[in-house]
Amino acid sequence: MKSMPYRCPVCKSELSIEAGVGLRCSNAHTFEFVEGTTIPLFDSENSDANEYTISNAAEIHENALRWVFNTYSTSEEELRENLLSRLRLVAGQKVLITGVGGGNDLPYLAGKVGKNGIIFAQDYAGEMLLSAVERSADIYGLAEYNIEFSISDATNLPFHDGYFDAVFHFGGLNLFSDVAAGISEMDRVVKDGGRVVFGDEGLAPWLKDTDYGRMIINNNPLLNFSAPLEHIPTTARHLNLSWDPSYCFYIIDYTAAKEPLPLNIDVPHVGTRGGSIRTRYFGQLEGVDPDLKAALYAEAKKRGIDRVSFLEAILRDGLERKDDNG
Ligand SMILES: C[S@@+](CC[C@H](N)C(=O)[O-])C[C@H]1O[C@@H](n2cnc3c(N)ncnc32)[C@H](O)[C@@H]1O
Ligand SMILES: [Zn+2]
Repeated sequence: MKSMPYRCPVCKSELSIEAGVGLRCSNAHTFEFVEGTTIPLFDSENSDANEYTISNAAEIHENALRWVFNTYSTSEEELRENLLSRLRLVAGQKVLITGVGGGNDLPYLAGKVGKNGIIFAQDYAGEMLLSAVERSADIYGLAEYNIEFSISDATNLPFHDGYFDAVFHFGGLNLFSDVAAGISEMDRVVKDGGRVVFGDEGLAPWLKDTDYGRMIINNNPLLNFSAPLEHIPTTARHLNLSWDPSYCFYIIDYTAAKEPLPLNIDVPHVGTRGGSIRTRYFGQLEGVDPDLKAALYAEAKKRGIDRVSFLEAILRDGLERKDDNG
């Protein structure tokens, strides 16, 4: 590991390497390496917690993937390229994949960041992560690429803010214990202007109440999930929502930003009412006598000025006169 990308997931402080042991933070939280490796084990799903922690999990997951590609008449390459191209990676970049599973995205990611780039791959299930480690070398021939694996929780990532050029997730988000945290963590660890792409099962809404939809939801109730738009970071820019394959998995991609969306709340409205977003939101007054209100509006019209400007002038005048009287 060249520099320390990790931070303590418990207290968020810096970590340092303890030779032969693992990682330790200044508050004495320690994280061991998986035996015989330098793969840090920050946190892991309890064994037998779900289908990804049982033995043979990777093989079962691989069979499920083949079923998806055959059923929806697509190929793994077509689907993964469609998803990963949205990261807009260039050679030499740093990318994180959360819930990497059996590592099927790794050869595609390696092709994009090249041997000077670096891929961080994490999963909460040790069984899945270790299968990705093995497959990346044995099946995908990626031993010469920089891939840093960890066992950790995608809803509490052990990485510094803004560390990555891009972050990717596919296939596990719906069942994360905290979907909002899964998304906000991806957003936190990507740099300003970086790309975030994620997707999971979720049939497009217009297909749910059709024979097509009812059949496939009956077959796999996870298809009834919807894109978690309510959890998108408020700073996200240029967001796209789409579905693939066959409108069965939602895909969200956006460009991360650290600044709020631009909004000038002081641009004056031209017209009868006048005012601005600020005056309308923060400057609301108490109710007044309706006849007085009607008279005020009529007088503003007669003078050819907007209501807000007229009202503000009267109020300022009244307040100043009170000051004059002491
Ligand atoms: C359906 S698999 C998808 C694997 C891979 N992304 C793919 O496209 O083939 C979902 C993965 O998400 C992982 N996962 C579930 N909850 C997680 C969490 N909180 N943090 C990290 N990974 C998690 C599971 O262990 C599993 O490997
Ligand atoms: Zn700590």
